[in-house]
Amino acid sequence: MNTHFSLPINNAVPECVLLTGATGFLGGAVAAQMITAGHAAELRFLVRAANPRQGLQRLHDNLQQHGVSDENRLHLTEAQVICGDFLDTGWLADKHDQLMEIDRVINCAAVASFSKNPSIWPVNVEGTFAFAEVMSRSQRLKRFVHVGTAMSCGPQRHSPVRESWEFPEVEQQLVDYTASKAEIERRLREQLPNLPLVVARPSIVVGHSTLGCRPSASIFWVFRMGFALESFTCGMDEHIDVIPADYCANALIGLAFKPQLKYDLYHISAGSQSACTYAEIDQAYALASNGAPVGERYRRVGAHDLKSLASSFEERIGIANPRLVLRALRLYGGFADLNYLFDNSRLLDEGISPPPRFTDYLGACVNSSKDVSIASQMQWDFK
Ligand SMILES: NC(=O)c1ccc[n+]([C@@H]2O[C@H](COP(=O)([O-])OP(=O)(O)OC[C@H]3O[C@@H](n4cnc5c(N)ncnc54)[C@H](OP(=O)(O)O)[C@@H]3O)[C@@H](O)[C@H]2O)c1
Repeated sequence: MNTHFSLPINNAVPECVLLTGATGFLGGAVAAQMITAGHAAELRFLVRAANPRQGLQRLHDNLQQHGVSDENRLHLTEAQVICGDFLDTGWLADKHDQLMEIDRVINCAAVASFSKNPSIWPVNVEGTFAFAEVMSRSQRLKRFVHVGTAMSCGPQRHSPVRESWEFPEVEQQLVDYTASKAEIERRLREQLPNLPLVVARPSIVVGHSTLGCRPSASIFWVFRMGFALESFTCGMDEHIDVIPADYCANALIGLAFKPQLKYDLYHISAGSQSACTYAEIDQAYALASNGAPVGERYRRVGAHDLKSLASSFEERIGIANPRLVLRALRLYGGFADLNYLFDNSRLLDEGISPPPRFTDYLGACVNSSKDVSIASQMQWDFK
């Protein structure tokens, strides 16, 4: 794997790091960076699997997508896998001794979906809390990095949005997912005072800075759709706060290992310096796809007027379920409509480097999407 971020770990004494969500996009990127930098032996993985063998296989499959070499993957063993599910936390009692050997947690596991999924609250709130509650009793745990989402701030905030523990009422949140992410942060902070909690809230994670969409095409299809339809909910001159998964992973590792942190809450975002306008993304997308920018043909539509585009879905997007396309456009258009930039000065003050701009690595995303339809990329976010 060719990543151009330096790993911010400088530990003389090896520590035991529990990573959750390593079969997913962000957790996979964290695992890939730690393993490639020679820290495989320190890792433990919480994985949904019937047994450690199956769990290890699931990890291997994902790490391959994240560009980890066969040789590096083979350093991992079944003993590093803890089988567990946040939906049914009975395993927490069985694995208590293993959990008490953990020095640091990077908690990436969640149902990360804008859909109405009945598992969202049980997993993202109740199961996550049960896990954190056990970890809060550890004498050994030095840091629990919980991955939130910057969008949990809710609507009606002003850019650049700064980190805040204030959340809107549940009903004001755009989707159940952001409501659940706000609620778990509130519970962890208020109800587990002994948990060495640091919350990291990424903005919008799209692709990988060198592998493009190979690890995941999550959200990239929204840009493809917007350019194919020559319409979306954002203005051409508006900035979009996008970061690649490997940058996000690097920042999470930094927040997990830095001996002292000034705050307990950080955005991981592009911020004002690294965010690109939709027009810049249009230009870079056209260049990478050997096409012409949408430019003046672009028509901005309100989230409620997206239906007017439905008649051209098949011609412009290809074969796809039009109801699903419309639902997807409404959900993602609602967030784009907020037009948020998330302030990242706290993170940069900790010495973590700024992210690349989306336009710097968009070519990798386009190249890795060449033979993949928009509809099939959309499945990443509607599993
Ligand atoms: N991607 C973004 O743009 C973005 C932006 C901001 C914040 N975040 C946050 O980043 C974190 C990771 O998101 P992601 O994009 O990497 O999502 P993802 O690709 O869907 O990965 C989710 C991970 O969570 C695990 N998981 C799901 N349900 C679980 C359960 N019941 N018990 C244990 N593990 C479970 C999944 O395991 P399985 O493989 O077994 O399903 C997978 O490893 C989430 O907290 C999300 O809120 C993501």
